[in-house]
Amino acid sequence: MEKVQQVYISQFPEYEGKEVLLKGWVANRRTTKNVVFVVFRDGTGFTQLVIDKQLAGEEAYKEADKLGLETAIEVKGKVVRDERQIGGFEVHVSEFKVIGESEDYPIAKKEHGIDFLLDHRHLWLRHRRPWATMRIRNEVVFAIHKFFQERGFLQLDAPIFTANACEGTTTLFETDFFGQPAYLSQSGQLYGEAMALACNKIYVFGPTFRAEKSKTRRHLAEFWMVEPEMAFYDLDMTMDLMEEFIKYLISQVLKNRQFELSLLERNTTILESSASKPYPRITYDEAVEIIKGTRKVNGRSSLDVLKEDLAKTQEEIKKLEAEEKSLEKQLGTPGLGEKKKARLQGQLGKVRERLHKLRERAKNIPLWIEQAENFPYGEDFGGAHETVLTRLFDTPIMVYKWPREIKAFYMKPFEDDPNFVKGVDMLAPEGYGEIIGGGERETDLNALLDQIKKHHLPEEAFQWYLDLRRYGSVPHSGFGLGLERFIAWMGGLHHVREAIPFPRYYGRLTP
Ligand code: 4AD
Ligand code: MG
Repeated sequence: MEKVQQVYISQFPEYEGKEVLLKGWVANRRTTKNVVFVVFRDGTGFTQLVIDKQLAGEEAYKEADKLGLETAIEVKGKVVRDERQIGGFEVHVSEFKVIGESEDYPIAKKEHGIDFLLDHRHLWLRHRRPWATMRIRNEVVFAIHKFFQERGFLQLDAPIFTANACEGTTTLFETDFFGQPAYLSQSGQLYGEAMALACNKIYVFGPTFRAEKSKTRRHLAEFWMVEPEMAFYDLDMTMDLMEEFIKYLISQVLKNRQFELSLLERNTTILESSASKPYPRITYDEAVEIIKGTRKVNGRSSLDVLKEDLAKTQEEIKKLEAEEKSLEKQLGTPGLGEKKKARLQGQLGKVRERLHKLRERAKNIPLWIEQAENFPYGEDFGGAHETVLTRLFDTPIMVYKWPREIKAFYMKPFEDDPNFVKGVDMLAPEGYGEIIGGGERETDLNALLDQIKKHHLPEEAFQWYLDLRRYGSVPHSGFGLGLERFIAWMGGLHHVREAIPFPRYYGRLTP
């Protein structure tokens, strides 16, 4: 090949009209009488290659027609603007050569089920949706560091092997640490507190582990958490910081990842309001009333809103069922051309996918209403309760002042209402629920000792932590954001497992 500059798809705007060299993979291929169209990806983006008999020659056309999915190729061609194509450009190819063969690539059909895709996660990552999601993940991680670094926080790491629990003893992964039992960290918080008393404002950012034998959309066994901890911060200052932080992350995603959001077909209306509007702060007691429908928000009760949702959902199901029938009928027409058939099948697939979601919703709403009406005061919120509660808002909300009984041992009670603690959860809208847990920490040695006993925690393992209350104890606070929960919300993903490259949860340890 004659020498031309090697570029990435992401650089195309600078190379319009120029001959370039590209290296990447065949994501898709379609052949017509005179042209092979390849959807090509190089990891930085996707673009269409046009391999035309006229320009590339008969030989190249024939070779291109044989390219298997995910064959690695090197391509020479001209970058041409075409707004209709993915990424806004296409490449008119003059030459190409194969670098790495790929035969019978396993992920070929649109209809693969989620388990098949997860079994092939090492390959599935190359596809559009996971690719877009990983780019959003990177954006969020980068924004997290920018946010804290610009505000004078130090990033410090907590150990993964720990001798003590942080978030209760029921979700501990036990391992063998040279003959001594050790647990994989559930949270870096306790160490974060020690580091905050040394360096003032710090954040811990690393993997955390919870042995949760649940297969919900929101639970992983290994997930990443970012945990700022601030000396001399109280609950209100912490809520201010949480809100500023989340708004910043959302605005960075909206600003820099529009293309990825569009690949995920994410409707960003609520993300936009969440980047600018103030987040309501409501107490646990108020939240319970809202869930039960006895307290209105902007003149509407949660139960009314759910009933409206149900009616709307049922209406849309009817419309889509009619559409499904009509598409099926059209597909049954004899002598249908290949192209038209493929298009109709594509449409039918989309309609069925949407129908599946809506039917699920129609089934769930009555259950949510029932669970909301019967919510037992004093208990923690489940996924359904959070969905009912957040449905009334178009931003995240912060629920604070929780009953002491259901929160962790380290939380500080209100001085004037000691049955409640200064904990706060941030709940995301659109059914995503809790993304942050945090609050003000107990500072008093004896009160803490008392709680450690009440929670049946081994005092011995907490002696170092208690030292923080023996030597210069000060008010301090912090919180933890579950990275995958946040990314799932940004991308509108169905399950947190799609928000991490290689998910680990009950029932999945590979690939
Ligand atoms: O509410 P959690 O348990 O709070 C803590 O761990 C505190 N020690 C944090 C702190 O104050 N420094 O967990 C914090 C967040 C949750 O709000 C949720 O977003 C996420 O971590 N999270 C999970 N994400 C995925 N899978 C799981 N099993 C999760 N458990 C918690
Ligand atoms: Mg929590």
